[in-house]
Amino acid sequence: MENNSGKTALITGASSGIGYELTKLFAKDGHNVVMVAHHDDKLQQAAQQIKTEFPLIRVETVSIDLSKDGSADRLYSIVQDRGIQIEYLVNNAGFGEKGQFLETDLDKEIAMIHLNTITVLTLTKRYLREMINRGSGRILQVSSVAAFLPHPLLAVYAGTKSFVKSFSESLQDEIKEHKNVTITVLCPPPTETNFFEVAHMENSKVVNSPQVQDADEVARGGYDGMMNGDARVLPTLVAKMYAAQGITLPDSINAAIVHSQLEDIKK
Ligand SMILES: NC(=O)c1ccc[n+]([C@@H]2O[C@H](COP(=O)([O-])OP(=O)(O)OC[C@H]3O[C@@H](n4cnc5c(N)ncnc54)[C@H](OP(=O)(O)O)[C@@H]3O)[C@@H](O)[C@H]2O)c1
Repeated sequence: MENNSGKTALITGASSGIGYELTKLFAKDGHNVVMVAHHDDKLQQAAQQIKTEFPLIRVETVSIDLSKDGSADRLYSIVQDRGIQIEYLVNNAGFGEKGQFLETDLDKEIAMIHLNTITVLTLTKRYLREMINRGSGRILQVSSVAAFLPHPLLAVYAGTKSFVKSFSESLQDEIKEHKNVTITVLCPPPTETNFFEVAHMENSKVVNSPQVQDADEVARGGYDGMMNGDARVLPTLVAKMYAAQGITLPDSINAAIVHSQLEDIKK
């Protein structure tokens, strides 16, 4: 595919899973990409695959730990210093960690909160202002169906994803008169990526059930929704069912249902 847009997408968490699939979709449409992730070796491998498959687009990489204080602003400065204007911002990098709150590691949870919320907040602050001043741009915020339901045993993670959804849907209203700048919230259901391994959930029955969706299908829903300026994307029937359950039943009932579904990740 030739470079027909000259526009650039910045994708955090682009080295695997949903972020990698989103990167492919931008590249396929001829957009340049800035791929961001923590581990450089994995990121370079992923970037090489994109360059090989889409030789006419510009592929930049930044390896940075976005769970650290000041890291999102460092990323912003690096991209500015390279003279790259970002038309599409995808706040996708994130991780979860299973466990009972009384036993889980606080430092890890603070790092998770930083990556899943503070980094999203900071990059949105920096790039949304630019987009509004310029009069164009689109942001895709990767939340989760966990934003619709309390998640015992994934309590902090679900809290971060609720933040992303509520924050982003509030901003949608604040910027609604700026017709050419949009914010889309993607709420994936359980999806086949490295997420479960990172969250130490790989042996759970939920993770090994047919409700787990393909990352390319989830990414396609998010990409099309963002390009269309949609407010919210529930990318598959399973995602819509989670959201419907969250909206219909009382939170206490949903918490008990999710708790029983995730019971086997306790240990
Ligand atoms: N998979 C699911 O079931 C599911 C469901 C709902 C929502 N989501 C959300 O989807 C998003 C993408 O996750 P995924 O499922 O595609 O998982 P994944 O395959 O584990 O991908 C996560 C990406 O984020 C990057 N990342 C993780 N920690 C980082 C850090 N500290 N600094 C910079 N980059 C970091 C990873 O790079 P490194 O490997 O270098 O760390 C990787 O590129 C996340 O926000 C997740 O919460 C996933």
